[in-house]
Parts: sequence; structure tokens; C-alpha cells
Amino acid sequence: MKVVLGVSGCIGAYKAAELVRRLQQLGLDVQVILTRHAQEFIRPLTFAALTGKKVITEMFESGSAPANLESAVEHIAVADSADLLLVAPATANLLGKFANGIADDFLTTTYLATKAPVVVAPAMNVNMWEHPVVQANLERLRGQGVQVVEPDEGYLACGWTGPGRLASTETILARVRAVLGLRDDLAGETVLVTAGPTCEDIDPVRYLTNRSSGRMGYAVAEAARRRGARVILVSGPTALEPPPGAVFESVRTTEEMRQAVRKHLAEATVVIKTAAVVDFRPSAPAREKLKRTSGRFELELEPTADLLEEITRADGQRLVVGFAAETENVVENARAKLRSKKLDLVAANDVTQEGAGFDVETNIVTLLTRDGQEIPLPRLSMFEVANRLLDEVVRLRAAARAAPAARG
Ligand SMILES: Cc1cc2nc3c(=O)[nH]c(=O)nc-3n(C[C@H](O)[C@H](O)[C@H](O)COP(=O)(O)O)c2cc1C
Repeated sequence: MKVVLGVSGCIGAYKAAELVRRLQQLGLDVQVILTRHAQEFIRPLTFAALTGKKVITEMFESGSAPANLESAVEHIAVADSADLLLVAPATANLLGKFANGIADDFLTTTYLATKAPVVVAPAMNVNMWEHPVVQANLERLRGQGVQVVEPDEGYLACGWTGPGRLASTETILARVRAVLGLRDDLAGETVLVTAGPTCEDIDPVRYLTNRSSGRMGYAVAEAARRRGARVILVSGPTALEPPPGAVFESVRTTEEMRQAVRKHLAEATVVIKTAAVVDFRPSAPAREKLKRTSGRFELELEPTADLLEEITRADGQRLVVGFAAETENVVENARAKLRSKKLDLVAANDVTQEGAGFDVETNIVTLLTRDGQEIPLPRLSMFEVANRLLDEVVRLRAAARAAPAARG
């Protein structure tokens, strides 16, 4: 989901930098627009560094003509792509322009052009805040469906005391969550997700791996972030971008994945192991590239570490979720894995089914829980599967809190 964050010209503009970080930690994509006067208080570079994106500061490109129509009408593209337009802090001037349809810069034009919900968080001197024109503009905006996050009372930068201080980041985020329908039922949890394949070298140029794309694990990591969890993503090589705000550990071999999991295990309250680790590795990887021969070639393999077993054996009251990719007797095999590995939840899928398995954007899984539930899910997007899985995680965590029991 994309939040377009407008920042206008007041002392509290620096607080928008922290807000960007916190929005990203909810898994949101943030595009920043600065008014001309906002740039007197904070530099675009700060936001460019935080978001990794160009910060929009001008309505018209200076110098040469725009490269194409899309870049010429960027304000429409930005307005269309927004799931939320948030202005924090919003000056009295900006509220006046919004309320009266003045569109003389990028931010005010985006306001008129967007169909996304709009939230404004005003910040100003108490006398400005109490001015009848400002209050009338706010009433008008509320009437147009704009949500106003009321400023806090307190000592203001101008030396006055009273209402006018930008609402706290927590209050603004709570409103963003509510408007976007984001749940925070994983707040307080640290979710460790493993994803992707691992690689085991045969020689310096060849290796054993598997067809895991990492998509399921990345979807779980992103969904958990959006639901308020702190997320640690340990991933083998994939072509995917880690979700913003997640702690990211990039690994290649099963041993590296094992070390990264060990490093973070103590912090984790939930472990979701979606990674497809290579089960066997060459017993003695060659130091030099193996030469092509005409005869048979035998490769001796040895088992790699069983990460799942190590995780469930480790101390700590954490919930452990595994995935079982099967090609036959899916539910029976997955239930056996649930028991033998002492898992709390297994997501079982038949990788031979169309719409499940490798190289697809969807998955078809059955969730099996330690407390005997069997929940077959229809074909769903990876992200929806992730959320259904997390629904069960939330339920099992709540049950465990209500009746703490030793794993056994
Ligand atoms: C030091 C300083 C602090 C300011 N603080 C605020 C403020 O907190 N709230 C506000 O509405 N205007 C404030 N202003 C006035 C705005 O910067 C001014 O109205 C400007 O035109 C706003 O432009 P913009 O809404 O396009 O960003 C301040 C001006 C200065 C010089």
C-alpha cells in the first residue's frame, strides 16, 4: 500500500522524517511531497535517503521539456497511486488552500486529483489554530471527508502554550492504521521468517539448490510487518525485495541460514520457516572446478542440518510454524511432520496442483494446528495465504498466553 506524505512549512516538519520510518515499518510504501516552504525547514535529501525515492518538490520540471506525458502529469500518477494522502505537519496555509480548492503547487494539486482518503495533522501557533478562518477551513475539510488529527496541547516552539503542537507519531499512525484497515494484532511479537532456497557448492562454479522463489516467505514477512510485528527475515538467494522495516539477513548456504537463525532465535516469539533448505550437500566440495569427463560421475552427499528440529528443540516459549511441500498424501504427511518436529502449525501444500508449487503467485494450502484444527484454504494469493496463516498464529499465541503449557 502506498502513502503519499505531504510535508508543509513549519518547525514540526522535522518530525515527518520519523513518521516516514514508522510508516515504512508498517510495510507501507511512502512517497514524500515537500512544499516549497517545507524545504526551508528540512532538506529533500533527508526524505530521499529514507525512502530511496525522488522527493517531489516542484510542479514543473525546470530546464528541458519532460521526457514523456507520464512525467509531465506526475501529479495525476501520484494521486492515482495513493492509498492514502497524509499531510503531516499541515500548516494553516495548506489547510486554507485544501479547503478552498487552490491548487498552486504539487501537494495542493494532488489533493484535488486524488480519490484516496485524506488525513491532515495540523501544527501551528495556538492563536493561528484558534483563528476563526482556520477553524472554518477545518470544518469545511471535515465536511469533505478529510480526517483531522487534532494537535496536542503544550509548549509550542513559538513560546506560546496551548493547542497547536503536531499530534504524536503514535496518534498519527493509529489514524493511518484505522483508515487503511491495518490490523495490529501482532504488535509486541517478533516474527522470525526464513525464506527462499539454500545453495550447497559442488565446486567453485556449480551448486545444488531447489526451485523455491522465496515468494511465500516474503509475503509472510510483509503481512506480519503490516500487522505490527517486528520481523526478522533470513533469506536465501531470491529476486525479491525485503519488506521495508524488516531486519534482513541474506544467506546462501544452509549453514549460513542456521547461523543467522541461531543469532536471532532468542528474540523471536514466533518462527515461521518457509525456507526450502537443501537437504543434502556434497560431502567434499571440490576446491577447483571439476573437469568434464566422459564416464559416470558420482557425487557423495551428506544431510544438512535440520533447522526445524533445532528450532523446536531450543529453549523458549515460542510458536513454531513449518511448511510442508508434498507431492502425495499431503495432509497425512504434514500431520506426521507436525508431530515429529513438534510444531504448532503446519501449512501443507501439494506442489503438483495447478496454482500451488513453484513459479506461481498463488498457493493452495491446508493449515494443520497442534490443537487439532484442519483448515483447507482455497486458491489464494500468497499474501492472503500469509494473512490466513497469521490469523492462526494470533489465535494460538492468545491461547498459549491464556494457558501456558510446556512444549512436549
Ligand atoms: C520559523 C517559522 C515557523 C513557522 N511555523 C509554522 C507552523 O507551525 N504552522 C503554520 O501553519 N505556519 C508556520 N509558519 C508559516 C508558514 O511557513 C507559512 O504560512 C508558509 O507560507 C507555509 O507554506 P506551505 O503551507 O506551502 O508549506 C512558520 C514560519 C516560520 C518562518
